[in-house]
Amino acid sequence: MTDQTLTLVVNGSAHAVKCDPETPLLYILRNDLSLKGARYGCGQGQCGACTVLVDGKAVQSCNAPVSDFAGKSITTIEGLGTAEVPHPLQQAFIDEQAAQCGYCVTGIVMSAKALLDVNPKPTRAEITAALRDNLCRCGTHARIIRAVERAAAAMAA
Ligand code: FES
Ligand code: FES
Repeated sequence: MTDQTLTLVVNGSAHAVKCDPETPLLYILRNDLSLKGARYGCGQGQCGACTVLVDGKAVQSCNAPVSDFAGKSITTIEGLGTAEVPHPLQQAFIDEQAAQCGYCVTGIVMSAKALLDVNPKPTRAEITAALRDNLCRCGTHARIIRAVERAAAAMAA
């Protein structure tokens, strides 16, 4: 398809991107905007490594055309916190040592953020349900759930 110039609002900043509008959002984030936090896992909507927030909802960015996201508010892991001032979710994942290889974690943190934004005191069952589309091949699931609980407690305090 012919390239078009789309405006993407990512982490609060507007970017004009010239691209094939059928390109998956993930490729634009990583290759055009150099936001490497969202990751390519399966490319088929089955692992959640590519999860970002779109208008506050967790969305897999690997298999949807970038044109679907023009003008919407996109948040990537880079929009949460910094190494110096991490978001409570990021701090909780560090405190719980909830990553082994870490490949899945950025997507999991974004899914968890979508949950906590609408449900600040989730039950363990609600956390598990919110993360059902995020796979972790290292199997750190128990620590991941504890990290989300820790973040919820920290954010409530
Ligand atoms: S890379 Fe998008 S769901 Fe797996
Ligand atoms: S920590 Fe390795 S895939 Fe989750």
